[in-house]
Amino acid sequence: MSSQSVAQAWTTSSTATAPAVDGGRLLRRIEELGRIGRDPVTGGITREGFSAADREARAYVMAEARAAGLCVAVDAAGNIIIRGSAAAAGERPVVLMGSHLDTVVNGGRLDGAYGVIAALEVVQAWAESGGGGGLEPVAVAFTNEEGALFPQPFFGSMVLAGRLAGLPREPLDHQGGPLRGPLALAGGDLDALGSAAWSSDAVAAYLEVHVEQGPVLERAGSRIGVVDGITGRDVLTVEIRGTAGHAGTTPMAGRADALAAASRVVLAAERIAAERGLCRVATVGRLHISPNSPNTVAEAVRLTADLRDTDAARMRNAEAALRDALADIARQTGTDIEVVGRVYSDPVATSADLRALIEETALELGVPYAVLPSGAGHDALVVADLAPVAMIFVPSIGGVSHVPEEDTAPDDLVLGAEVLLRTALRASGLPTGPRR
Ligand code: GLV
Ligand code: MN
Ligand code: MN
Repeated sequence: MSSQSVAQAWTTSSTATAPAVDGGRLLRRIEELGRIGRDPVTGGITREGFSAADREARAYVMAEARAAGLCVAVDAAGNIIIRGSAAAAGERPVVLMGSHLDTVVNGGRLDGAYGVIAALEVVQAWAESGGGGGLEPVAVAFTNEEGALFPQPFFGSMVLAGRLAGLPREPLDHQGGPLRGPLALAGGDLDALGSAAWSSDAVAAYLEVHVEQGPVLERAGSRIGVVDGITGRDVLTVEIRGTAGHAGTTPMAGRADALAAASRVVLAAERIAAERGLCRVATVGRLHISPNSPNTVAEAVRLTADLRDTDAARMRNAEAALRDALADIARQTGTDIEVVGRVYSDPVATSADLRALIEETALELGVPYAVLPSGAGHDALVVADLAPVAMIFVPSIGGVSHVPEEDTAPDDLVLGAEVLLRTALRASGLPTGPRR
């Protein structure tokens, strides 16, 4: 559709006023959502994907959307899809906006949640002002972006993007418990995942607003970040099987101590990034030890190794080096070591056209912005398989994230949502209204 006919659709089917973000409503929802899964002592949020707290957060967002008169659906992957009206669905290509509601253990209240609430705000503001335009604004809350409980990060966005081959047939949590039941409790259906995949024709653009989670914007005095690329992520689930034994009577010689072997894996991963420079960062952040008893030699350990880089070839090299190290460690420690799961996402560049729209918006609003890469993974990384993607960052106070102290100034949260709205309007060829 030409931008002239899009603008015509807008003026004929909408009131004369361009949509505007309601900052008070946005901040109230962020505050209320941030109480769900909150530890009263640390203030950290624990809302692992598919946990009870995650379900509560999902229910909160769906209730807010329904109370606003919006149309809410849950797909087979448990993704929450929010549109202005069901009747218009499928008539126009979509400008999809969103992020995730799940968190890491003891994380912050903004990572992901902010992007979902901002997208809800945009869809609501757009609907309230008449709902016209050449693209249909749709908000999405993706399931299990973090992979904190179930080691399939980006689960919801992978399904939406049709990447089913990258997922296990019967996903399991870190303790071996199946996803099937918790997914059903979230309104999903493991046997119908294919029905949740979108075609690329349906999505004209995907926009995600997110806290930066690093120090770049704050240090530069920039209020908006325009993300030029998103780091790739390779998450391996590694199982180490040794032999359990009495801590006091099992001789050191001949032990097959799964935890001692796991410790070597932790250090091997660190060395791959820190000393050998094969990838930008490598982290083992989670170990599950069996039987996890102070006076028993560990029988088994399941851990995740998370490798990241902005260059796909370097990620492949780093993974190969880690696999070589695993084979060496198994030989040296008498354990069996197997990679039992892998979730891989190539690094992606964001769309130059969408970046230009974000920059125009920042200039229109007269706010300083910076162009920067994202070191964190985001659903946008996966949706890039389907559609042009772009990300808008707002500054993180102190540059911290995945910790209870994660925070962003309220004015910046409102500004980020306004930039999201205006960028989506521009993508639809619509006027953005006066600067407020
Ligand atoms: C996702 O939030 C990640 O980058 O770990
Ligand atoms: Mn995160
Ligand atoms: Mn996030």
